[in-house]
Amino acid sequence: MNPPRERSKRIVIAGGSGFLGISFADHLAELGKSVVILSRHCPKVHGQWDHVEWDARSLGDWVGALDGADAVVNFTGRSVDCIKTPDHRDEILRSRVEATRILGKAMRSIASPPPVWVQMSTAHIYGDPPSVVCTEDSPSGIGLAPEIGIAWEREFDSAIIAGQRGVVLRTSFVIGRDRGAGKGAMGKLGILARLGLGGTVAGGSQGMSWIHEHDMNRIVERAISEPSMEGVYIASAPNPESQEAFMRKLRRSIRMPIGLPASEWMVRLGARFLLRTDPELAIYGRYVRPQRLLDEGFRFRFAELGDALEELRCDQPPLHGYGTLLGAN
Ligand SMILES: NC(=O)c1ccc[n+]([C@@H]2O[C@H](COP(=O)([O-])OP(=O)(O)OC[C@H]3O[C@@H](n4cnc5c(N)ncnc54)[C@H](OP(=O)(O)O)[C@@H]3O)[C@@H](O)[C@H]2O)c1
Repeated sequence: MNPPRERSKRIVIAGGSGFLGISFADHLAELGKSVVILSRHCPKVHGQWDHVEWDARSLGDWVGALDGADAVVNFTGRSVDCIKTPDHRDEILRSRVEATRILGKAMRSIASPPPVWVQMSTAHIYGDPPSVVCTEDSPSGIGLAPEIGIAWEREFDSAIIAGQRGVVLRTSFVIGRDRGAGKGAMGKLGILARLGLGGTVAGGSQGMSWIHEHDMNRIVERAISEPSMEGVYIASAPNPESQEAFMRKLRRSIRMPIGLPASEWMVRLGARFLLRTDPELAIYGRYVRPQRLLDEGFRFRFAELGDALEELRCDQPPLHGYGTLLGAN
């Protein structure tokens, strides 16, 4: 008689309809996992997952999706790639804090809450130190992004339930493919670079910490399946670049010889009136190092930016199944 087949793991991705959610859902679906995406809108792209609607702030029928799930991953949050009007600031904060809070309430209302909660956070929590390399032990910074990151993590600390294993991922700039749900900030950056405008910004020494989506997905997967992972981790490749070097490597990968430099005032005008975004996302930056992941033996598939950009430039199908822990069913 054949041994009974292991039940497929069910993983709920809150805020899973965007760039990172679809990338991770795709990664899990390739492994044969059962995936539920919780979001306000139906994902723009079809895939091997179920969609459950929520409002990200109050209890509803969606709570049933969590009951008996093996893990919840929370990616919910309004994009920070916008002009920081009071309304936008408010929504950036509330979407993160309220979604985390209601997930915690939902966990308390069901018979069988997921044993693992993987929570998105931001490497911007360290602020914008010009040259210091931040690790998990570094103090948080000052300003809007660190304040939001602190509030987000604090809410997670109160929302997580007793006995649940929680992993917080302070994530840097994720570079990846557009699977129909956008590709984050790389979309705009790629267009600028192709127009010959991808040069040094405001001197170019500010840090650009980055991670390839494939490594990001492997880290989330590891956070779900590795019982020793708990607490705060930096999710970023081990070799952050300066803004100048990042753009030089990006131009090289797309074979664009020209990259006009821009001074701070040019970026402030261009970001506001042409790109409709926050100029400080380009003017400032940070260098972070994933110390805990490195200490715990995580091997990055893309440790060097040049390799990561080259893989994304190539018209290859997305990478799957490299060093997976959850295992295909
Ligand atoms: N991409 C990166 O480089 C990066 C780096 C560090 C951290 N992060 C964080 O990772 C998370 C996911 O990033 P992403 O690039 O996938 O973002 P995204 O493409 O903008 O997706 C955001 C997700 O949050 C939901 N959402 C957006 N606004 C919301 C609101 N006001 N209330 C409730 N839900 C809302 C969206 O679904 P609905 O609108 O359908 O509800 C979507 O599922 C975000 O929290 C982001 O800050 C991203």
